[in-house]
Amino acid sequence: LGSGPLGGRHVIVTSGPTHEPIDPVRYIANRSSGAQGTALAAALLALGARVTFVTGPSTIPPPAGAQVVRVETAREMQAAVLEALPADAAVCAAAVADWRVENHSGSKLKKTAGGAPQLVFAENPDILAQLSGLGDGRPRLVVGFAAETDDVIAHATAKRARKGCDWIVANDVSPATGIMGGSENAVTIITATGQEAWPRMTKHAVATRLASRIAEALA
Ligand code: C5P
Repeated sequence: LGSGPLGGRHVIVTSGPTHEPIDPVRYIANRSSGAQGTALAAALLALGARVTFVTGPSTIPPPAGAQVVRVETAREMQAAVLEALPADAAVCAAAVADWRVENHSGSKLKKTAGGAPQLVFAENPDILAQLSGLGDGRPRLVVGFAAETDDVIAHATAKRARKGCDWIVANDVSPATGIMGGSENAVTIITATGQEAWPRMTKHAVATRLASRIAEALA
């Protein structure tokens, strides 16, 4: 068992994008690289935690020592997270697709004279909200991320309340920031009692700081 401030603690980290199939060869995705989630899992491991790393498709190698569960879709991610419980903390860093294609096809869609296919969307389960709302089995600390392009703090504060999580890590993913897919991040941590803006730093540094905050909260 790990030693260090998180020795004996189990933390679930979700990371990366999800892929939602349109047909066997096409999918809907987003620009998440999985960099922040991977760095966070590594930082938690370094503090001695047992980490279940539930990751959507990502080209970044998962951290050594994590229990890695690879998934494609939001619903697979949800199942993997629930399967990994109980946990002392859960950090939902994944950029989960809000919608899946309800009428996805089992065979490749063809061009036809009838015109372009009409995709019908269905809402995906909200894993963060579900974890936050668990009764007995709720992780003691549930942390979400809020990637916003405008009114970052206001939207993130509302999101924390709506989802019922303990902390929201808010960041601005406007294209001009270069954060999505980049190596740096500038975050504000929003809790029940206030907010704290951290200077722009590498995603590794954000991960290290966040992991030590998590260790303090679970101590
Ligand atoms: O609502 P929004 O997608 O902006 O919320 C972002 C936060 O919620 C992130 O922590 C993300 O991992 C989590 N989330 C989730 N399941 C979803 C959508 C978002 O866990 N279906």
